[in-house]
Amino acid sequence: MSGARTPGNHVLLVGMMGSGKTTTGRALAERLGRPYVDSDEQVERRTSRGVAEIFATDGEKAFRDEERRALAEAVASGRPAVIAVAGGAVLDEANRALIRRAGEVVWLRATPATLAGRVGDGHGRPLLEGDAAATVARLDEVRRPIYEALASAVVDVDGLSPAGVVDHVLAAVLRHVPIPLGERSYEVLVGPGARHRLADVLPPGARRAAVVSQAGIDLEVDPGVETSRFTIGDGERAKTLSTVEELCRGFVGAGLTRADVVVAVGGGVVTDVAGFAAASYHRGVAVVHVPTTLLGQVDAAIGGKTGVNLPEGKNLVGAFWQPRAVLCDTDALTTLPEREWRSGLGEMAKYAFLGVDDLPSLPLVEQIARCVAAKAAVVGADEREGDRRMSLNYGHTLAHALEASAFSGGGGRPALDLRHGEAVAIGLIFAARLAHLLGRIDEARVDRHLEVVEAYGLPAAIPAGLDLDALVALMGRDKKAVAGPVFVLDGPDGVEPVRDVPRELVVQALAASAAGGPAPEATASAAGPRAPKARGAVSP
Ligand SMILES: NC(=O)c1ccc[n+]([C@@H]2O[C@H](COP(=O)([O-])OP(=O)(O)OC[C@H]3O[C@@H](n4cnc5c(N)ncnc54)[C@H](O)[C@@H]3O)[C@@H](O)[C@H]2O)c1
Repeated sequence: MSGARTPGNHVLLVGMMGSGKTTTGRALAERLGRPYVDSDEQVERRTSRGVAEIFATDGEKAFRDEERRALAEAVASGRPAVIAVAGGAVLDEANRALIRRAGEVVWLRATPATLAGRVGDGHGRPLLEGDAAATVARLDEVRRPIYEALASAVVDVDGLSPAGVVDHVLAAVLRHVPIPLGERSYEVLVGPGARHRLADVLPPGARRAAVVSQAGIDLEVDPGVETSRFTIGDGERAKTLSTVEELCRGFVGAGLTRADVVVAVGGGVVTDVAGFAAASYHRGVAVVHVPTTLLGQVDAAIGGKTGVNLPEGKNLVGAFWQPRAVLCDTDALTTLPEREWRSGLGEMAKYAFLGVDDLPSLPLVEQIARCVAAKAAVVGADEREGDRRMSLNYGHTLAHALEASAFSGGGGRPALDLRHGEAVAIGLIFAARLAHLLGRIDEARVDRHLEVVEAYGLPAAIPAGLDLDALVALMGRDKKAVAGPVFVLDGPDGVEPVRDVPRELVVQALAASAAGGPAPEATASAAGPRAPKARGAVSP
């Protein structure tokens, strides 16, 4: 298993000398199970010289150059770390840009009096020669606005014990995204170490927890109550009613009552199956999702859709069952295989057309939190999949048909090796082409779809050898198809369901996607912003 690229997933501590970055950084790294990197130590390691010595012999500029290189090296590491950023490194704009993209930035803020007390006579700190207290106060005044602008969270350290500072930092790096659903409302916590909040989000009175996961998902969770652990099989083939039956029988054996809780630790397969088991067991017990794939964190675990497959198709049996909480621990993503990571990017790509712009430039926690917030806004307005919630299925009409093709491979073998997010990416391009053929969007917008999908390194074309007529028929069997298929398409009013789409345009858009060629000619009169919606068409 290759470690996934999880860029922008560091925790960076910034603050003045004496604010406690080193002590906090080491303890925090231990609590999160991450490596600790100190940018000053990194300079010393690279140069085999002490900071004071570099200052004395080569001057501050030479030191700052080394500092920039050391920081870039620390940030480039694929493994998420806790990085203590040397006090002055933030003076450099290039460093600040690097720090901003690298992860969650926490400013350890202390009063000048506390700082002066901690640095003493300034021994070993080249900038503090002379009156150390006065110099600290002066530097603090200059740097305060810089830290303030840079940090995504602030922890006031005065009066806190070292362990107290760590607790505050752990709380500060978690984003809380509310899912507003009246009495079924809950929060999604996103960030490093989110899984450690599990005991806090259990239903009051729960005495037992059933943790459902898969082999190969190496994420320990501690519900803080008597716990039974269940392992289900891998992939779509495990998403069956018989897995749900096995789980429910296991819950009975473990003495799980209606007051207890199911904890789903895994990707979309685990959260869909365990969520459905929780929805059914004793006519519904509480469930907490701890999604461990990117796709699970930005999509599958949010919004309460649970379910399993039938031999006739995906997700044909299920229930809406809102979790009690969702803990998106970004540390879980470290072990995710590369292909699963990319699959998650397919769902992320979808959000670019649902009003969430410029995701790739943001730190990972922010990217996930924004996707969750976008989904929350839709689910909050339309919990049970009316037209509004269907926008979340953007790219999915074809994706489900492609997955059904994969699913129908004989002898237990998938006919097509395609991950869900990859299928969504192909579906997005098809949907853009179809919208263009209907005159709903212009060619530049189709190109934008291609740009987003390709920037994520995702496939845009339908894999060779698939029968396009069969795909049309499968799209007609999609769950959303009440009378003929419903396509979710971009347009002047944004992404929305469109019915009665002419079959020949569907085939034309499929053919263009299969060839992976350029967008076909639009047949409707105007591809501009006020183009009409298509009507009066033939169903496949
Ligand atoms: N309910 C919804 O709203 C919704 C939305 C989108 C997708 N889904 C469903 O989600 C499923 C796809 O989910 P997925 O893409 O997460 O796939 P998945 O659950 O099959 O996980 C992919 C693979 O990664 C492994 N894995 C998971 N976390 C890992 C980790 N941290 N480290 C190492 N390996 C790990 C799993 O064991 C599995 O082998 C589909 O069945 C789809 O229908 C549901």
